[in-house]
Amino acid sequence: MHISASLLSADPLNIAAEIAMLTDIGVDSLHVDIMDGHFVPNIAFGIDTVKCISENSLIPINVHLMVANPSQFIDMLVHRNVECVIIHREICGEIEEILKKIKTSGTKAGIAINPETEVCEIEAYMKLVDFVLIMGVSPGFSGQQLVTQTLNKVAKIKSIRNNVIVGIDGGINDKTAILANKEKVDILVAGSYLFDCATCNRVDTIKEKLRKLCQYR
Ligand code: DX5
Ligand code: ZN
Repeated sequence: MHISASLLSADPLNIAAEIAMLTDIGVDSLHVDIMDGHFVPNIAFGIDTVKCISENSLIPINVHLMVANPSQFIDMLVHRNVECVIIHREICGEIEEILKKIKTSGTKAGIAINPETEVCEIEAYMKLVDFVLIMGVSPGFSGQQLVTQTLNKVAKIKSIRNNVIVGIDGGINDKTAILANKEKVDILVAGSYLFDCATCNRVDTIKEKLRKLCQYR
């Protein structure tokens, strides 16, 4: 089990320090959510922020594009450490073309599915992707509860292509991680669980939470 920290819940005024802390405590990768206010009812990060993050990171970065028209941004996301670019199945564009564009740009290609989207709706794209991101919540906001039925999708995805990497994004905490582990999820994306803490010993608290998620490795 690989742990990816969603920077959406990190301290926005101290992103560089947050990245250094996450790297230091052993998070495997960073998850950067880009939202355009159209595809989802929220706005988060931006193309230039990914460039700055890539220059400040020693660990891989996964870019989760929650935007209506991702095609125009693919070439702008090619940076050192940007390992995977993920688009949504629910967009209206030419998904196959965009996935090929991501691969041509030299990064891994991922496809994300909202809780109400069935696995059969991505079957046609499975040979083109390296990564499938199951949304455990409706995209747009951190701090929501996992829709546990979304975990059934892991086996369905693996039955179509056994060697594809499967991640779950949204609603992951120490309890839901146990459920995800049972389903053999490869990557847990965790945001508010890791970062929300009111103690004065923030780093140790985050470290302990990471340890709890990592025990399923
Ligand atoms: C939500 C984002 C997630 C979010 C997860 O649309 O894609 O990456 O940060 O947050 P938590 O872990 O708090 O559900
Ligand atoms: Zn995300």
